[in-house]
Amino acid sequence: MDYVISDNDFALFSKLVYERTGINLHFGKKQLLQSRVNKILRIRGIPSYRAYYELIKKDNSEKELMEFINLISTNVTHFFREIKHFEFLKNIWYPEFLKNNDKMINIWSSACSSGEEPYSIAITLKELLSHKHNFEILATDISTKVLSIAQRGIYPLSSLEKVSPMITKKYFFEGKNSAKGYVKIKDELKQHIVFEKLNLIEPFKLSSKYDVIFCRNVMIYFDTKVKELIVNKMYNFMNTGSYLMIGHSESLNGISHSFKYIMPAIYKKE
Ligand SMILES: C[S@@+](CC[C@H](N)C(=O)[O-])C[C@H]1O[C@@H](n2cnc3c(N)ncnc32)[C@H](O)[C@@H]1O
Repeated sequence: MDYVISDNDFALFSKLVYERTGINLHFGKKQLLQSRVNKILRIRGIPSYRAYYELIKKDNSEKELMEFINLISTNVTHFFREIKHFEFLKNIWYPEFLKNNDKMINIWSSACSSGEEPYSIAITLKELLSHKHNFEILATDISTKVLSIAQRGIYPLSSLEKVSPMITKKYFFEGKNSAKGYVKIKDELKQHIVFEKLNLIEPFKLSSKYDVIFCRNVMIYFDTKVKELIVNKMYNFMNTGSYLMIGHSESLNGISHSFKYIMPAIYKKE
């Protein structure tokens, strides 16, 4: 059976998604929603989009909502995506950090998807830091599905195509026999990362302040109001002198905030 979503039902889903995730699912995304949700309706024998909507709304455990969010969120990412941010960590942030003589570094990867971003940050820091310094990366996402992939830390070997053989050997185990073609993150990297579910539009229950926050390629799905809310909340959880990294196709133009613009996709809390 091929399900078709009416404009009215799409509006209901769109409102639900906006209220619960901040994601702006405008009418241009109707086909996308249909292509991702049809299969679920078919497999589960749910008779219509409206019935699926009612199911999500009635489920107090929010399991249905979570499954739906897992379906509609876009999780594209890769190791060392937007390399300029990692070069910035090495060339600008690290020398500045050394002057402050702090021992502990806190970094937040705030829409970490399947984990390639926080692992890339961890590799960068491992390569930079001496034993005098320690670091912790909080890696969060709204989607439990991608978080479980991140936590497992197993990726196709092909995902490391652009990563040097030296780094691959140092931080990944290469699978053998039935695991051939896959790599697994080594524990020495994993031990620096804490994975947690966190919805950026809800109040942040965080106990640390951060030296760098990565909030990349997620604000593109938010409208100005939601973006403004999120970056201003982040500002309150950042140390003086810390940096906010956003995606290179994103900007903070048109929103009210207190960050200093440093270069494309990089802002500083002074
Ligand atoms: C395209 S991925 C970006 C991954 C990574 N930051 C990067 O730049 O490669 C966007 C991620 O944002 C997450 N996301 C969407 N809405 C969110 C929200 N309200 N709170 C937290 N994460 C959210 C999605 O689940 C998805 O994993």
